[in-house]
Amino acid sequence: MRNFITVKDIGNLKVAVAEALEIKADRYKYCELGKNKTLMMVFFNSSLRTRLSTQKAALNLGMNVIVLDINQGAWKLETERGVIMDGDKPEHLLEAIPVMGSYCDVIGVRSFARFESKEDDYNEVILNQFIKYSGRPVFSMEAATRHPLQSFADLITIEEHKKKERPKVVLTWAPHPKALPQAVPNSFAEWMNATDYEFVITHPKGYELAPEFTGNAKIEYDQMKAFEGADFIYAKNWSAYSGENYGKVLSMDREWTVSERQMAVTNNAHFMHCLPVRRNMIVTDDVIESPQSLVIPEAANREISATVVLKRIISELK
Ligand code: CP
Repeated sequence: MRNFITVKDIGNLKVAVAEALEIKADRYKYCELGKNKTLMMVFFNSSLRTRLSTQKAALNLGMNVIVLDINQGAWKLETERGVIMDGDKPEHLLEAIPVMGSYCDVIGVRSFARFESKEDDYNEVILNQFIKYSGRPVFSMEAATRHPLQSFADLITIEEHKKKERPKVVLTWAPHPKALPQAVPNSFAEWMNATDYEFVITHPKGYELAPEFTGNAKIEYDQMKAFEGADFIYAKNWSAYSGENYGKVLSMDREWTVSERQMAVTNNAHFMHCLPVRRNMIVTDDVIESPQSLVIPEAANREISATVVLKRIISELK
C-alpha cells in the first residue's frame, strides 16, 4: 500500500479484518518491521484518539514518531498558490511539505473541511498536496471528506460483535450545536457499502450526504422506522452537504438524540460513535453507559486499524 485515503486502498475487507485480528492477538508481532523508519504526524486540527492510537501503532512496529501541530509552534502556513504573502503567514505549504517529507519515511495528515469552499474541501486540496509534494507515502488521519482509520476500526468492531452474518447497521444523524464536517459519516457509509451488511442511513431532510458516499444505502427519514430491528446504531452529527446550505447547521432537534426510546425498537442493538461525543445532544447518558455501548472498544480498535495500515505501508517502502 502506498497511500491510505479511501476504502479502496485497503483491498479485500475480509483479508484486512483477519490481519487486524491477528495483530490484535499479538500487537508486537511486527516490532522489528519499523526499525529506523520515522512516522511524521501532521495535525492541522485537534485530536485525542488519532494522535495517541497512531503513535501507539507506530511504536508497536518499532518506528520513530515525530508529531507536528501546525497551529501550535509551527509557522503559520499559506495554502493558496498565487497569494502575495504580505500577511500573517510566513511559510507556504509548497515548501513546508517537501521539507517535512525530508525528515521522515511516512506522513499522516489530519486536515478537516474548512467550509470556505465546498469544491476545495471535496477535492481534498491539503491532503492531495501532501501526496503530490512530500515524496512519501501519505495516510489520512481524517481529511475533509473521509476518516478511513476510524471506519476501519468501526468495521473491526462490528465484525467482533456481530451475531449474524449480515447485520442491520444504521447510521443516524444526531443534533450538535456546531457545524461538523461530513468526513466520518461519508467514510462510514463508504466502508459499510463495501460490505454485504444491510445498511440504512437516517437523518432529517436537508442532511443528505454526497451520493458518491451513500451509494445504494437505504435512506429513511423516519428515525424510529430506521431503528426497527437494527443490530448496530452508529450515531454522528454532520452539517448540511447540499447546495448553498453546505457546512450549515439546519436543525438541533433533540428528538433525534439517541435515547432508550429509539433503542427499544432495535434488535438489542450495539451503540457506536467515533468520539468525542456530546452527551445528551448526540446520545443520552443511559445509552452510552449501557452494556450495549461499544464506544470504548471502538476507540481501542483505532490502535489496531492504524497498526495494520502502517504495517502495510512500511512493508512496501523501498
Ligand atoms: N475519533 C477520532 O478521530 O477522535 P480524535 O478526533 O480525538 O482523534
